[in-house]
Amino acid sequence: MGHGPLSGYRILDMTQFEAGTVCTEILAWLGAEVIKVERPVTGEQGRYSQAEPGIDSYGFLVVNMNKKSVTCNAKTPEGLQLMKDLLKKCDVFVENMGPGAVDRLGLSYEACKAENPDIIYASLKGFAKDGPYADYPAFDPIATHTGVMVSVTGLPDQPIKSGISVADSGTGTMLALSIIAALLQKEREGIGQRVDIAMQDFMIGLSRAQWEPYLANGHPNRRVGNGMPLEDVAPSNTYLCKPFGPNDYVHIYASRHPGSKQWDILCDVIGRPDLKQDVCPEMSTPRKRFENVEMCDSAIAAWCAQHTKHEAMDIMCKAGVPAGAILDCDDITNDPQYYERGMMVEVDHPEHGKVKLPGFAPKLSANEIEYLPSPALGGANEEVYCGLLGKTAEELAELKAKKAI
Ligand SMILES: CC(C)(COP(=O)(O)OP(=O)(O)OC[C@H]1O[C@@H](n2cnc3c(N)ncnc32)[C@H](O)[C@@H]1OP(=O)(O)O)[C@@H](O)C(=O)NCCC(=O)NCCS
Repeated sequence: MGHGPLSGYRILDMTQFEAGTVCTEILAWLGAEVIKVERPVTGEQGRYSQAEPGIDSYGFLVVNMNKKSVTCNAKTPEGLQLMKDLLKKCDVFVENMGPGAVDRLGLSYEACKAENPDIIYASLKGFAKDGPYADYPAFDPIATHTGVMVSVTGLPDQPIKSGISVADSGTGTMLALSIIAALLQKEREGIGQRVDIAMQDFMIGLSRAQWEPYLANGHPNRRVGNGMPLEDVAPSNTYLCKPFGPNDYVHIYASRHPGSKQWDILCDVIGRPDLKQDVCPEMSTPRKRFENVEMCDSAIAAWCAQHTKHEAMDIMCKAGVPAGAILDCDDITNDPQYYERGMMVEVDHPEHGKVKLPGFAPKLSANEIEYLPSPALGGANEEVYCGLLGKTAEELAELKAKKAI
């Protein structure tokens, strides 16, 4: 199971889909023992997809590595009792059900605290529990729309949501950080606490840099496509590269800050010294280049069209100009460097065989992660209910017969 900073801590995990599951996957990768509780037969809602209802979805595999799964129908008296027994053995409880659902199950903060006074009780919702939207359900795009991001993403007349679940995975990550802080406080002061996070609030915090143009201009920022969102400067664009496939692009951005030499270096790289700041009045400042953005962009685009996105990125960056190729899942999955440094990992899944998945980004020198595939539904029933709670084989059979597990 590996060994890391959170080894010895046990997490009772009633998360589903992506937002909550990302949180507990991080805790697991940091060494915690994560016991994932799922409804019998169906599992948590993210386990199966519409397309293949009987097989774990790849989406489930990605966000549930290194966890143990137990089944429990918490709506049965026996199931609820199992949860209460498990709470006594756990340091943290995490859930991201819809508003009020966990309370209706009989697992409110007060109820859990009655079982374990030091429990750290973490809830992730779409909206703050003390705000006017407290009872509203939310998936990722609801939070990115209500949390500033979509207001500044897209084209001037077309707001566009992000292609990845920034609010889900982001909020889950922030919840993991908050839980670890609560564990530190518990170590020092001996107290548990309630940790609440709302996806909308997380997105507001993530969008904090947008207050720079808002405060400066007195109105919300415009959508600028691939342009620089904080200020009207150039170059900042995504340019087409050879061989002109759907993801053959490189983004190039030269610093807007006074004294930066990046534009002049870029001019040398693309063979256009005639466009340097001191010799070309139209290109003399980042703002001037924005006013003459077609002149600026066409010179860069002509150079990019002669290079692949990888070449363009390497040449620019080696010269000191920030540039990033669009790298898609295929680019990342097929590049050995990500496996060599553990950013991509291969796990052996009982249903899917060998699967290549993203690993844990932070590298801690005292965190030894042994990457394990997501668990089979109820795969740890015996280990947890008999090993941890001391149930006998007969009691386990009885719980099964009553459909409590
Ligand atoms: C995502 C969301 C909109 C889905 O809504 P939903 O499909 O109606 O699902 P809910 O989470 O509200 O309900 C889950 C139900 O399963 C039940 N359930 C979950 N685990 C259970 C278990 N182990 N045993 C018995 N019942 C269980 C809950 O009690 C609830 O039942 P109820 O509706 O009768 O109270 C909602 O969960 C939500 O807003 N979550 C918070 C925000 C969030 O995390 N969103 C992003 C997910 S990536």
